[in-house]
Amino acid sequence: MSVQESVSEEESSGDWVLKAENVSKSFGNLQALDDVSLEINDNEVVAIVGDNGAGKSTLLYSLVGIHQIDSGRIEYATGTVLDDQNTQKVLGDEVGVVHQDMALVGIRPVFENIFMGRQIEKEYLGGLLRVSDKETMRQESRQMLDELGFEMHVDKEVRLLSGGQQQILSFARAMYTDPPIMVLDEPFTALSEEVINKLMDAIDDLKQDHSIVIVSHNLEMVREIADRIVVMRRGEKVADLSGEEIEREDILSLMVN
Ligand SMILES: Nc1ncnc2c1ncn2[C@@H]1O[C@H](COP(=O)(O)OP(=O)(O)O)[C@@H](O)[C@H]1O
Ligand SMILES: [Mg+2]
Repeated sequence: MSVQESVSEEESSGDWVLKAENVSKSFGNLQALDDVSLEINDNEVVAIVGDNGAGKSTLLYSLVGIHQIDSGRIEYATGTVLDDQNTQKVLGDEVGVVHQDMALVGIRPVFENIFMGRQIEKEYLGGLLRVSDKETMRQESRQMLDELGFEMHVDKEVRLLSGGQQQILSFARAMYTDPPIMVLDEPFTALSEEVINKLMDAIDDLKQDHSIVIVSHNLEMVREIADRIVVMRRGEKVADLSGEEIEREDILSLMVN
């Protein structure tokens, strides 16, 4: 099957939760995204692969409204539309993002990082004051990390965690509001084999009632976990593979040719 055929076949499918239509984005003279269309469906893991500089991160950040796009449109099934005029707030409620620049606060404990920017408060002095409810935040953080299968002391300062643990923490933080769509930029980098396996399991569980978009250049992981693989090359989407195509197609040569 040619690349063109597999692209158009995919565009007619399923129950979408997020859809990009003819999205372009430049940085100065550099066209980072060139007329990219893409659908993310319910309960699906979509991997975005491509060489360095192919536009993978730019695509993710455009999908979630961190970047404002130059043309085209991005639509969520909830009705939210992002275009060259609008970047509404979608982070947290509609979509959670885990990216490499994780913006954790090293000198604060794990549980405070999970609740950063949305801390739980309680009334104090008969409602005169509102103070942060650390015990509830501790408990909820503990429970959540447990459910995800990650052991981590919630009172530990984040700067004392390994790189891999920090990555897990940023995953847990993005999960906290339980957005229906999760977007992960290179989640396997810097993780040990053991933690990769736990993360793969967590993603498999999540998939039951979420949609997950993963950028990764780890083709082995991606082939194992993805229901669909979108291949980017120099800003363009060059393939959208599902089912048997994932095994059959030479993804590496699609990436670089
Ligand atoms: N904020 C930015 N400012 C200028 N150029 C950028 C910016 N972000 C990405 N680029 C450029 O856009 C292209 C695509 O980058 P990126 O989406 O990060 O690629 P990938 O994630 O596939 O490695 C690259 O040439 C990169 O240098
Ligand atoms: Mg990138």
